[in-house]
Amino acid sequence: MKNNFDADKLVALSFDAQKNAYAPYSKFLVGACVLAKSGKTYLGANIENASYPAGICAERVALSKAISEGEKEFVAIAISCSANQYAYPCGICRQFLSEFSTNFVVLVAKNQKEYKRFLLKDLLPANFDKDCMD
Ligand code: THU
Repeated sequence: MKNNFDADKLVALSFDAQKNAYAPYSKFLVGACVLAKSGKTYLGANIENASYPAGICAERVALSKAISEGEKEFVAIAISCSANQYAYPCGICRQFLSEFSTNFVVLVAKNQKEYKRFLLKDLLPANFDKDCMD
């Protein structure tokens, strides 16, 4: 089980993940790296589609890969993009991540050295979750 982690490494892996982005429409490459409590990391990149709404963000690709490999608990996610801007996760991705933990550390990178560290609960306060349906 992993709680301390190398944030620089996670951010670097998110930049590596951009290599496999499929973004012919926006040309905006996004990479994500999720660290599971098992210690394993999972990479994701955005995958666009000619039917634009059918595309999927890098964060949900990375997390879906992890979940479909049996991971259920997570420590952190690093996100980066090709535009030399801070790569904040979109609202849908914030919601998707919040299903698994609101203590998720979210590293939002501008480049390999400059990144901001948040907790998901600060990026998505008062979130909708299964308790809301009780
Ligand atoms: N994108 C992500 O991969 N993650 C986000 O959180 C925001 C947006 C992608 C989707 C699309 O392929 C491109 O960035 C432009 O919106």
